[in-house]
Amino acid sequence: MISRAVSVDPTDDNLDLAAERIRAGALVCFPTETVYGLGADATNDVAIAALYEAKGRPRFNPLIIHVADMAQALEIGDFNETALKLAAAFWPGALTLVVPRAAGCPVSLLAGAGLDTIAIRLPGHDVARSLIARAGVPIAAPSANPSGRISPTHAAHVAAELGDKVAMILDGGPCRSGVESTVVQIADDKVVVLRPGAIAREDIEKVAGPTALPMGDEGTPASPGMLSRHYAPDHRLRMNARNVQADEALLAFGPPCPGEPVAALNLSPSGNLKEAAANLFAYLRELDKVDCRAIAVMAIPEDGLGEAINDRLRRAAFR
Ligand code: TXA
Ligand code: MG
Repeated sequence: MISRAVSVDPTDDNLDLAAERIRAGALVCFPTETVYGLGADATNDVAIAALYEAKGRPRFNPLIIHVADMAQALEIGDFNETALKLAAAFWPGALTLVVPRAAGCPVSLLAGAGLDTIAIRLPGHDVARSLIARAGVPIAAPSANPSGRISPTHAAHVAAELGDKVAMILDGGPCRSGVESTVVQIADDKVVVLRPGAIAREDIEKVAGPTALPMGDEGTPASPGMLSRHYAPDHRLRMNARNVQADEALLAFGPPCPGEPVAALNLSPSGNLKEAAANLFAYLRELDKVDCRAIAVMAIPEDGLGEAINDRLRRAAFR
């Protein structure tokens, strides 16, 4: 039987219950001033894998990490002077700042799609901030719509499209803005608007000076699909390995293939795709540190989260 999460009012009791669910690794939808978010504990790899699964995303796009206050933002990101100025001017609010991950940042690598940067937002909605504060962990949240559908601005939209996949929906009424946050990357001295949104470029420039266009790998302006650079390992990846050589490292899935690799990590010995997604970026980074000729990667089925896992591996293999 599929149980549908009904929307509940954001009373103190319901906020406490929602925070408890977040801490237990469940998914909770909540209102922000822009659109409703599909939230999970940003520090819990398995919860983040479940979030991607519920969203039905064919790719691991990096997620925005929502915080309750500036102190929590500073625990997860490195803010230079410009980033601090923008935060002071627009937070709480519809601005997402992409900054380097702080040393010891506890946020799941899967939530950040393996990147060294992190997208942080302090939302301007009491229900959102109260939920995050009560949960005591930062909350990763993409818009609460299945992949390819438009972003929801009413709790009823969320219930209709994701109600059978989440533990709870907090109903905060219609969202004030309805347009997603503006995503701004702070890189060295440059301020790059990666995604136009609820806060106008001109307003950002009044605080931070001229903004730059996002650049692709060749130094030319990037197309929208290319806006976030992806983590790429240094080692070559050998895909669909059915055996492993003595000078290779092995990234296994299910029962390991024959061979005596330099090192081996198993994404999921039992062949569970959610577990594999949760381990993917951490294991790739781990094996990338090993002295070897290549990383042999066993085949992973294309169903469910397998599609996103394979997308990421294929892009890591392409050089
Ligand atoms: O208004 C909003 O921003 C809503 C509410 C729920 O906060 N959230 C939202 O999340 O729109 P989502 O996942 O649909 O969009 C996240 C955007 C994507 O364009 C993603 O590429 C970008 O943020 N992003 C996240 N982390 C990034 C990073 N490290 N570098 C570059 N872009 C990043
Ligand atoms: Mg979205």
